[in-house]
Amino acid sequence: MSIASDPRRTALARACWLAGLLAGLLASAAGAAAQAPDAERGRRLFHGELPLTAKIAGHTSALPAQASRCVNCHAAGSAPPPSPSAGASSASTSSFGPALDARLLLQDARRRGGPPSRYDEAALCKLLTTGIDPAYIIIPASMPRYELSPADCKALWIFLTRPAR
Ligand code: HEC
Repeated sequence: MSIASDPRRTALARACWLAGLLAGLLASAAGAAAQAPDAERGRRLFHGELPLTAKIAGHTSALPAQASRCVNCHAAGSAPPPSPSAGASSASTSSFGPALDARLLLQDARRRGGPPSRYDEAALCKLLTTGIDPAYIIIPASMPRYELSPADCKALWIFLTRPAR
């Protein structure tokens, strides 16, 4: 009798549908995890929402968290540049750095009078931790030197080189 077999078929169909739904959900969660968290973490590091350890070159004590935020001195992407009145009472204009985006970092450019150079993730990490740029020129001491984990470097790199919107 077909009536007896129907409920089983329905149950099987339901199970298949559920399995498909689950697989779809898992796939989209994995897809989101593959791109979003690093850029978001980079954004939070850049804006000082996550802590960064930084020092002024040649000094041993760490800067207060407020002073080490990248956003104090740099704009990122199409964001407006930092306003001179934002917290930097003693900073002169020369302590502001360039607006950071994929174009500035990824294209050959003469930086600080050096030969043309561009960044990759390792070069950005080296600059942030040692102050040495891709052309082996030391950036001004007004930019702090950072203690960053490779994961934090990567997050900042992904955030700063994300495609312009
Ligand atoms: C107190 C101000 C200050 C802070 C905070 C700061 N910077 Fe800088 N940054 C500078 C200055 C000044 C320069 C050098 C500009 C120059 O040489 O013309 C610079 C240069 C750079 C460069 C080199 C750009 C190039 O074309 O070579 C990068 C990349 C950079 N900063 C990233 C960061 C990141 C990421 C952070 C946070 C983790 C940060 N900076 C925090 C002031 C700052």
